[in-house]
Amino acid sequence: MNPSKRTILVTGGAGFIGSEFVRQGVQRGYKIIVVDKLTYAGDLARLKESAGEITFYKTDISHLRNLTGVFKKERPDVIAHFAAETHVDRSLQDALPFIQTNIIGTQNLLELARDFQIRKFLHISTDEVYGDSAKGRFKEDAPLKPNNPYSASKASAELLVRSAVRTYHLPAIIIRPSNNYGPWQYPEKFIPVIIVQALKGRRVPVYGEGRQIREWLHVCDCVRAVDLILRKGAIGETYNIGSGFEKENLTTAQTILHLLGKSKDLIQFVQDRPGHDFRYSIDYAKLKKLGWKPKIPFPAGIRQTIHWYKENFRWVEGKALSRIYST
Ligand SMILES: NC(=O)c1ccc[n+]([C@@H]2O[C@H](COP(=O)([O-])OP(=O)(O)OC[C@H]3O[C@@H](n4cnc5c(N)ncnc54)[C@H](O)[C@@H]3O)[C@@H](O)[C@H]2O)c1
Repeated sequence: MNPSKRTILVTGGAGFIGSEFVRQGVQRGYKIIVVDKLTYAGDLARLKESAGEITFYKTDISHLRNLTGVFKKERPDVIAHFAAETHVDRSLQDALPFIQTNIIGTQNLLELARDFQIRKFLHISTDEVYGDSAKGRFKEDAPLKPNNPYSASKASAELLVRSAVRTYHLPAIIIRPSNNYGPWQYPEKFIPVIIVQALKGRRVPVYGEGRQIREWLHVCDCVRAVDLILRKGAIGETYNIGSGFEKENLTTAQTILHLLGKSKDLIQFVQDRPGHDFRYSIDYAKLKKLGWKPKIPFPAGIRQTIHWYKENFRWVEGKALSRIYST
């Protein structure tokens, strides 16, 4: 499929990963329509450099009528569905917005995708749907065992996508990236929390003993993979996007403090998250076969990310730095 001749509707395009998809898509010459509710996590500042090149709708995907209006007007060919409530700790406090956006919002998009005969539906899920794993790497056919309301809502959405493929032959593909990091991530997630707290000379919170393991994927690499799947991915398939850069949270925090020239004493161990997944790790051999591998190694990516937060400190300061954070 040649996406540059298609209209791509990007949900959640004002978010961290969605906005990178928009930036790369504009460079590739795609016609892009963004639908975003602009929750606390959405920000048009992320789309500033693409503003003249895209059409933006402030629309909630869980409101079918408003969403239908956008489809009638724009008649998209492709949907790249990034919009979601994404913060695990918030889902522990109140799961309802997660059900509303991640499940009902996805179902609305699936119905409109059928009605408007969409040619490709990219559903951005997460590796968290597998739950955690002490050893080994999850392949795409591993069972779904989500452990918190966020990952349960993402797994539910996936099942709706799966059933639409089977029942209505909807041309959908499910994508499961590992933990992303990079510029523009909202400062409630693990890596930006560490950077920002350290830059302010404040305590850096680390859950439990910091032994949890995450597989870090630079957002630019993630989006290159999503684009490859858009062009070459097979309908009805699921693709993991991993990096192989597995790190203990404590090591990640220490690395960032070291790069910032700050003392490790800033680290403060805080009470662990209930039900905290210990280790995420995925096998992305299937994606490698399509011709993708990560280009940005973690040591280079984390340096670039720290540099970006220093340069864009005013953007971060404008955000409510929540005391809840997550990986
Ligand atoms: N960040 C990660 O590490 C990661 C890893 C794997 C998968 N994912 C998935 O990738 C996608 C994007 O994640 P992100 O980190 O960019 O998220 P984010 O929280 O930065 O952005 C989410 C965007 O969705 C928008 N949104 C929320 N509810 C909406 C609604 N009802 N209607 C329309 N827009 C709405 C928000 O305004 C925001 O712009 C999500 O589906 C997430 O589950 C993220």
